[in-house]
Amino acid sequence: MLIFNKKSNLTAFLSPLISQNKTIGFVPTMGALHEGHLSLLEKSLAENDITVMSIFVNPTQFNNSEDLEKYPRTLEKDVEKMSAVSKNIIVYAPTVEDIYEGNTTSQAFEYDGLEHQMEGQHRPGHFDGVGTIVKRLFEIVQPTKAYFGEKDFQQLQIVKKLVSKYEMPIAVIGCAIFRETSGLAMSSRNERLSPEGKAKSALIFSILNDAKTHFKSHSIKETIETVTEAFKKYPEFELEYFEIADEETLLSSEDKDENKKYRGFVAVFIENIRLIDNISLN
Ligand code: PAJ
Repeated sequence: MLIFNKKSNLTAFLSPLISQNKTIGFVPTMGALHEGHLSLLEKSLAENDITVMSIFVNPTQFNNSEDLEKYPRTLEKDVEKMSAVSKNIIVYAPTVEDIYEGNTTSQAFEYDGLEHQMEGQHRPGHFDGVGTIVKRLFEIVQPTKAYFGEKDFQQLQIVKKLVSKYEMPIAVIGCAIFRETSGLAMSSRNERLSPEGKAKSALIFSILNDAKTHFKSHSIKETIETVTEAFKKYPEFELEYFEIADEETLLSSEDKDENKKYRGFVAVFIENIRLIDNISLN
């Protein structure tokens, strides 16, 4: 396994391979790897000649400095986990300086309104930070295919929009949410929960599944009310939002349109940790 900390060294290594038309799969992450990340890695290894995984806790996408400070940084363990999957992985683990060169301000992006919904509303500036880092990483790695999890469904749609707006020749591949056996969506933040908090958090997916059943025979509004009520029964959860939105536009609507694909999106606090999840409803 090759580990690069500097973009100049990484690009020097990759450019002859790009000239030879090798396909490059890219999996950007912030580390603290779990099986969800590794499932993206396996897909990339299966579909490309070369796989690059980046590990970088990107300061510009955190709108909460405590969250940035507390974000787990476990590079050694991450490398062990990756090498158990394959030795044939290129790791890019840059410093903030290597990426930002002394200027950690985000570029402002427009994603045709995708950025104004849900996470965009509750985490101001977040998607400018994501766009800034993803665009830079894409320019450095020049991948053929880039892998993103549906766990962060809004981010996935935003990255697709970014690639199309900047006409980058990259296929953005969405990957299914990887869950614990309890149903809890895997997340680096789960590690900050107590064992009880983690066990209780299985309820999030259980409520989402009930919402899916409910949605078949009820209106959007009724399903939202039912989910909101369900969370109210558990005082350990503080619901930030539950929204039902069109998968493409991420806009919520009052009436169901049979031709549209809907998803339920949730953000909830437990033990002061913010967890997000989503489910396809039809
Ligand atoms: P991070 O949260 O580390 O996630 C890296 C990738 O793994 C993202 O595409 C995310 O959607 C995916 N992922 C996380 N948990 C998953 C799960 N349980 N199942 C499937 N995929 C999962 O997302 C980021 O980092 C950053 O915003 C990044 C894109 C790296 C930019 O800094």
